[in-house]
Amino acid sequence: MKLKIFVTRKLPEVALQLLEEHFEMRCNSEDRVLTQKEILDGTKWCDILLCLLTDVIDAKILRANPNLKAVINYAVGYNNIDIAEANKLKIPVTNTPGVLTDTTADMAWALMFAIGRRIVEADRYVRAGKFSGWQPMLMLGGDIYGKTLGIVGAGRIGAAVARRAAGFKMKIIYCDDEKNHEMEAECSAEKVELKSLLQQSDFVSLHVPLSPDTYHLISKQELELMKPTAYLINTARGAVVNEIDLLEALQNKTIAGAGLDVFEHEPELSAGLTRLDNVVLVPHIASASIDTRTKMAMMAANNAIVIKDRHTPPNLVNPEILNGGLKLSQ
Ligand code: GLV
Ligand code: GLV
Repeated sequence: MKLKIFVTRKLPEVALQLLEEHFEMRCNSEDRVLTQKEILDGTKWCDILLCLLTDVIDAKILRANPNLKAVINYAVGYNNIDIAEANKLKIPVTNTPGVLTDTTADMAWALMFAIGRRIVEADRYVRAGKFSGWQPMLMLGGDIYGKTLGIVGAGRIGAAVARRAAGFKMKIIYCDDEKNHEMEAECSAEKVELKSLLQQSDFVSLHVPLSPDTYHLISKQELELMKPTAYLINTARGAVVNEIDLLEALQNKTIAGAGLDVFEHEPELSAGLTRLDNVVLVPHIASASIDTRTKMAMMAANNAIVIKDRHTPPNLVNPEILNGGLKLSQ
């Protein structure tokens, strides 16, 4: 008998087809986030839950089905899942690292350009019919080439953002718990404390996962350390930044601007954010290229299939549970 998989939202078709060959599948047929009740019901029905970063997989959901064999997250970040609870229940959780690294790094750069060179604001200006000819002081922005780029979190994505800076002759500094030797060698990057990074950088780009340690890592105090000409770029998770503090810093021009792909209370935005010209806002699309979303879906599907075949999945995020083997035989 085929194992059952519950997919909380439609993924690229090739991945759904693959899952259908291997599982009895139920997939949310509507283009919307499921309610907690719907996720709960789906979880009770399935052996494997395939979910998105917009689904809150809390203890209640994880405990809803004693036969739940795995949670497959269609994202690299997995702060939406109660990992401590999954560990208690010995439920393997997987993510989709690596395949989205470069696409996400590209978006960090797109936001640097968009906010630094005022692309979105300038586009609005032209569309509004305001362009009346070349002007010496029209839309002056900040340069990117030759400036200092501060990378907060030198994992795969942070390192890919740093690598792209070579063509722009930027100075790279970073902070992380660990040294990234490869990035230091390749990008002449220098590891510094967060405080010093904030003080020196012209662009600060965030690439840490969201955890209790990184929650509100960037708040009022940190924003005040930044140069008034500096920009903050967030393609990580919204809650790494205290959004109200950021809003105030943008309103008061404590910093020059921000490029945001993620928000603290997605999809809600802090009131006032959309009225500011010194911020570029995009709807959590850093990994959203056709190729990358397809690769992420195939990776998620592959994790599910490997687990079904009772092997350790390639992208297990909680290897702690392997003590005593995977809980697949029940
Ligand atoms: C996207 O935000 C991801 O974590 O994959
Ligand atoms: C995520 O993939 C990271 O390590 O940056």
